[in-house]
Amino acid sequence: MKALILSGGKGTRLRPLTYTGAKQLVPVANKPILWYGIESIVAAGITDIGIIISPQTGDEVRSKTGSGDRFGAQITYILQEEAAGLAHAVKIAQPFLGDAPFIMYLGDNLIQNELQGFLNRFKSQHLDSLILLRSVKNPSAFGVAEVDAAGRVLRLVEKPAQPASNLALVGVYFFNDSIHDAIANIQPSARGELEITDAIQYLIDQQRAVEACTLDGWWLDTGKKDDLLEANRIILDTKLHHSEVLGTIDESSKIIGRVQIGANSEIRHCTIRGPVIIGENCHLENCFIGPYSSIANGVKLVDVDLDHSVILQGATVTGIHQRIVDSVIGQRVQLCVAERRPKAVRFMVGDDSQIELV
Ligand code: TTP
Repeated sequence: MKALILSGGKGTRLRPLTYTGAKQLVPVANKPILWYGIESIVAAGITDIGIIISPQTGDEVRSKTGSGDRFGAQITYILQEEAAGLAHAVKIAQPFLGDAPFIMYLGDNLIQNELQGFLNRFKSQHLDSLILLRSVKNPSAFGVAEVDAAGRVLRLVEKPAQPASNLALVGVYFFNDSIHDAIANIQPSARGELEITDAIQYLIDQQRAVEACTLDGWWLDTGKKDDLLEANRIILDTKLHHSEVLGTIDESSKIIGRVQIGANSEIRHCTIRGPVIIGENCHLENCFIGPYSSIANGVKLVDVDLDHSVILQGATVTGIHQRIVDSVIGQRVQLCVAERRPKAVRFMVGDDSQIELV
């Protein structure tokens, strides 16, 4: 059994962060999203992992993630010249996959359930494909499945106007080698991509064994800002089990609840209410940091009131007297107020940035 993680793509919905970096490396609770997927695949006993990368962000994904040693896996990087669809990614990975069965995992997805149970079902029932489904409120925004009472998949429709069910296709799939023949037999969709839903539909039309499992745990697709914040909230809630302070905290600071503070970080005259994670080499002074905040390495915050937000590496925020909420602040951003009551604001903001003064 092998695994194929898709970490290419365009990432248009997470601009401007994706102008300068891979969306799969955006941190959730200070760890790249992609790494959660790798860890969960390795936990299911699969260590031969291919990662699809794009020409724009591939080097960054490769240099941060490495050979796989840190995960106890062996990683092969596979360059996809163009983001031509999920099935296209499988097609170009065929030399790596050979005729092995594999898990395909979208590198910006996170699921709560462990993979082992699904893997056992896929193997023991000799399925051609096992797909995972999750009930959602807005099925029209997803690939939607029609399933019979026995769990056999009857039909898949990409973003249907009138969905036949509320079961959306989650970004984790199990395939045997019959998927390669299916992909060879489909055409690009109206948006010009080779769609994995079309390839699975081909398997269904050929009377192959395609079944579905419905997830009971959470599923997060971190491709957009609010989903990323939700992923951050859930991961801090469920995976930050204890407090750990490696940095220094002065006597006038107050730490409440589960808070992790990395080495060489300095906390002065702050109140921090967990769950909160703060990386290494940060400087926080005169701040209130509220629950569900993740602060990456090398961040400087002075006179800041922050809640439910993600601050990326090397950002500086000083003197903003309004509470900062539901925000994602990119790497090396500088957000500063020079005087206590500014008469004007001065911006140098990248393309596709969103600033809301609420
Ligand atoms: P998507 O989020 O569906 O596509 P995208 O990354 O192009 O994002 P956007 O819609 O915001 O422009 O892709 C799901 C995952 O699969 C994501 O991790 C990127 C990856 N991917 C590839 O590796 N190759 C591809 O050709 C495509 C379309 C996606």
